[in-house]
Amino acid sequence: MAKITVHPDFKIGDISERLFSAFLEPIGTIVNGFMYNPKHKTADEQGFRGDVIEALKASKVPAVRLPGGNFVSAWQWKDSIGKKEERRVHLDPAWYQYIPNDVGHDEYLQWAEKVGTEPLYTLNMGTGTFQDAMDLVEYTNFEGGSYWSDLRKKNGHEKPYGVKMWYLGNEMDGPWQLGSWSGHPEDYGFRCREVSKAIKWIDASIETGVCGSSASFMEDFPEWDEKVLDQCYDVVDHLSVHHYHSAPPDDVKALLGGSLYYEDFINTEAAVIDYVASKHRSPKKVMISFDEYGCMMRENAPLNPGWGRYNMARSHYRFDPKRPYILHDPDNMKHFEFPGREILHMLSAMSVQLAFLRHADRVSIGCMTGGLGALCSSDHDNVWKSASHYGYSQMIKYARGISMKTVVDCETYDMPGYAIEDTSQYTGKEGVNYIDSASAWDKENKRLTVFAINRNEESDYSLNIDVSGFTGISGVKHYEIFSDPDDPDKKSSVNAQDIYAPVENKSGSLKDGVYSANVKPLSWNVFVFEM
Ligand code: AHR
Repeated sequence: MAKITVHPDFKIGDISERLFSAFLEPIGTIVNGFMYNPKHKTADEQGFRGDVIEALKASKVPAVRLPGGNFVSAWQWKDSIGKKEERRVHLDPAWYQYIPNDVGHDEYLQWAEKVGTEPLYTLNMGTGTFQDAMDLVEYTNFEGGSYWSDLRKKNGHEKPYGVKMWYLGNEMDGPWQLGSWSGHPEDYGFRCREVSKAIKWIDASIETGVCGSSASFMEDFPEWDEKVLDQCYDVVDHLSVHHYHSAPPDDVKALLGGSLYYEDFINTEAAVIDYVASKHRSPKKVMISFDEYGCMMRENAPLNPGWGRYNMARSHYRFDPKRPYILHDPDNMKHFEFPGREILHMLSAMSVQLAFLRHADRVSIGCMTGGLGALCSSDHDNVWKSASHYGYSQMIKYARGISMKTVVDCETYDMPGYAIEDTSQYTGKEGVNYIDSASAWDKENKRLTVFAINRNEESDYSLNIDVSGFTGISGVKHYEIFSDPDDPDKKSSVNAQDIYAPVENKSGSLKDGVYSANVKPLSWNVFVFEM
């Protein structure tokens, strides 16, 4: 037996339109292959895959952070504009690849226009100069009459792109980052103060995001965040943080309990933000942008005691004489399929999204790494819908309006601590709820939606959802996606697009404002209360 209570008086905060967004970076075939393939049967006049554009458009992905990632810290945007045949091919040492710039600055933004999504742009704060950043904003957002804005018009885009959100670099605390500011948070924060000021003087409507910690495993977490913000608190709007959760192979509890570490991270960053705001006597609240995240099961790697606290630097440095630079041919995209159990991919990612929803008062942006692939699975020829597509799309559709306090009373489990490798060291957690939940009250569309994951692999639960404080509930719909006990490893494909499509479970009943339902083992449940 489990119980969830939601009351109209207990609100967390408004849900940002950008909370369920995605992250894009030209690694492997993500750009050359998935986004761009002039030889594809659906390619448009710019060489973009029409099937991908249509699928993403239909999913209504609100925003995409682009064009990276580690890649962007050495990307020379000025060499990626204008006539394609005159563009320069550069090396991307972060990912050992050639960057032919067939997809350049204008193409990224025009692709986003075609998808109908907001581009969240990351500036090169590694090798890029202060002037490059100013020129880029002028090129992108200025009306006209200046060298860079007129060049944009000459290159075919008359109107300014109006990009609102600008990140001041990517993972600048990481020793692996090209042009890293690792060990120099004050210098980085001071540079951000100046760049943010300058680009806001070019376009006063923009928002900026400064790099917080690349992971809560960083040696200087959370001092980095505090020192950076101390330099630039008054001129930035978002603190950009990343986290990739790892669980040992087959440890479903640790995988699905991963969202608790996200919550720890969010709570710490919120405390740092509040501390710096107080120090600055500032009424402003910098928001948290969780613009890269993901969950995976990984084999344990050997630990290397004696190499420093967490060896984050060592694990990322690669001077590999045998590693070749690769030019990714857009027409040579290999078949991709989720490694491991597809349902677990979906449930673990949804659990993180529920954590963001529960912290809607502090988290303004969430960009899932691989989020575009989650919404639109693809191979060389086709696109299809995976389990993640369905869960993620439901979040985009239903997690709107106001995030509501969602009280859960249910059976719990303990999660022992573990270390995947030197950098990913997890303290244990006690009392993890088997039922993971969050809710949203969308007054505009007249519905309250309660989301619930059953993390338990062995047991279903009778679940009572008490919404008796709400008046005028006219009907309830319960959609579910669950692990198939007869085929837990089943995978979606172009010929099996609907095997994870949500089904309506009609067995529940509503009495005196309490909806009673059954939630299956390893399941995703969406309860829509229509008002
Ligand atoms: O998504 C892959 C990489 O992970 C990104 O480039 C980087 O920002 C992070 O470390």
